Amino acid sequence: MHKKIKDKINSAYMVQNYKKILPFVKPYWGRAVLAVIITIPVGSMDALIALLLKPYMDIALVEKSIGATAYIPLLIIAFSLLQSSLNYASTYLNTWVGRKIANDLKIKLFDRLMNYEASFFDKTSSGEVQFRFNGDVDTACNGLISNIKLLITRVVSSVALTGVLFYNSWQLALIALSVMICALYPLTTIRRRVKDIMKKTVFSGSQVVTHFNEAYSGNRVITSYNLKEHLQNRFKETLQSVFTLGIKMVQRTGVMSPLMHFIISIGIALVIWYGSYLITSGEITTGSFVSFIAALLMLYTPLKAMGNNFNNVINSLMAVERVFELVDAEPQITDKPEAVKLSGEIKDIEYKNVSFGYAADKLILKNIDLKINAGQTVALVGNSGGGKTTIANLLPRFYDVTSGAIKINGIDIRDIGLHSLREHIAVVFQDNFLFSGTIRENIVLDKTDVSEEALNTVVKSACLEEFIAELKEGLDAQIGERGVLLSGGQKQRIAIARAFLKNAPIVILDEATSALDNKSEAVVQKAIDNLMKNRTVIVIAHRLSTVRNADTIIVVKQGKIVEKGSHEELLELEGAYASLYKTQLK
Ligand SMILES: Nc1ncnc2c1ncn2[C@@H]1O[C@H](COP(=O)(O)OP(=O)(O)O)[C@@H](O)[C@H]1O
Ligand SMILES: [Mg+2]
Repeated sequence: MHKKIKDKINSAYMVQNYKKILPFVKPYWGRAVLAVIITIPVGSMDALIALLLKPYMDIALVEKSIGATAYIPLLIIAFSLLQSSLNYASTYLNTWVGRKIANDLKIKLFDRLMNYEASFFDKTSSGEVQFRFNGDVDTACNGLISNIKLLITRVVSSVALTGVLFYNSWQLALIALSVMICALYPLTTIRRRVKDIMKKTVFSGSQVVTHFNEAYSGNRVITSYNLKEHLQNRFKETLQSVFTLGIKMVQRTGVMSPLMHFIISIGIALVIWYGSYLITSGEITTGSFVSFIAALLMLYTPLKAMGNNFNNVINSLMAVERVFELVDAEPQITDKPEAVKLSGEIKDIEYKNVSFGYAADKLILKNIDLKINAGQTVALVGNSGGGKTTIANLLPRFYDVTSGAIKINGIDIRDIGLHSLREHIAVVFQDNFLFSGTIRENIVLDKTDVSEEALNTVVKSACLEEFIAELKEGLDAQIGERGVLLSGGQKQRIAIARAFLKNAPIVILDEATSALDNKSEAVVQKAIDNLMKNRTVIVIAHRLSTVRNADTIIVVKQGKIVEKGSHEELLELEGAYASLYKTQLK
């Protein structure tokens, strides 16, 4: 009966979440089941002690004879020895299984994270990623192990203790159980009470992590703008809101435990009152009564504690819920089942009436038509914010078009496998991410079969030869996290070297030299010129001097193509390009 009530409290919610975890338990089910089975005797210990109290009281204390009760102390020692060993084994097994499950979940989530499209990262903070993809799994799994273990021992012990209650006196047992139902009732409301607070707590918790990330990545800006105090204050504010939420949580749930405690005390009082009546009327023996009370106290104590622990239970269940929200959320940009591989030479790239908006209700690109033949260079120019980067980002499918289509060799890129598509495109951004490690690692990336000779060619083409020759460790020099030990031009050339090694037929250059001073720009430009040879190129450049030689220049303004032609043609036109060019010449 006790179990039934308990189930009812969380049934839908708990079952639905634990069910989702089952596939993750499956690989380890043998150990998991064993871990569960050995907690059963652990839970029944309490009942045994309570049960033994009856013969002990009735024979040793009331009849004042020893008889069979001589074995009781020995029995207790033997049983608790067994119990302790099993307890150890179950802790060990539970932790083993729990950690394995947590690892598998994290691997799954990491895979999800890798496969999310750009728009996911647009709207998710770094703090949220760390909090939800890593922290939540720990909360969920740690809670899960201890909860399952606790739940099973409690259920077993409750069932056994309830048996002892009925064995001693069914009338008293009915009273005790009715009170227990009343005492458990408030727990059914907890989830509802804490749900919105929990949501806010996750948000604030993520913000805390984001503060740390920003303090790390933004330390130069923070130092130069004297932002220490400002950021410290922001951090304090966030912490304060986490604190307030924590307090609110306690306000809403803290009343549970005292309330249950109170109801349970009423139950004990009722039992003692009615019990005395039953004893005096001779319906039960003193031994039965003492055994009953002992069992009842043992049954109620964990109940009272549960009022407090239930918060943790709910917390970890909510973490499970959040984890599976991520597990269940499929990335939007994926391979179609019938996706094809891009094979053979690139013949042409075509944007056909492409419109696109980051948000559904606001189009950024409108009716873009653009054709690039193999080996050609197309330059996108125009004022900042016009949509040049957006046009380029659609080709490797960082985002998918809202309407229209982009085709390579006449095949819609949405019908091409993502891996194959991206294999064919090398992108050099204005700010390229470098991994912590060596220069070599950053150029080679995941390739394991790059010969020293090939690497040297790449280094030469990317104009890195001189720089690397100066380094004591050469290619194996460490570059620091995000390449902090390098200059902007050096970082850029490493990114270009990557693109060389990738040897993709299509190259996108998005303001690759805009962040550089004139001198390093010249070197990087040389590397870029090498990279552009014999490839199909989309180049976005701020400085028009770098796009003069493009086969076609396209002027983008407010998401539309306003001019198209060669440098000379556009100058003759005396339109947007000509005026841009003139302002820059000045
Ligand atoms: N990830 C994004 N989410 C929402 N809006 C964006 C995003 N990136 C760019 N935009 C908006 O799209 C427009 C075009 O931006 P972009 O393509 O970067 O211009 P350009 O490269 O020509 O400077 C801008 O108004 C910009 O605010
Ligand atoms: Mg841009």
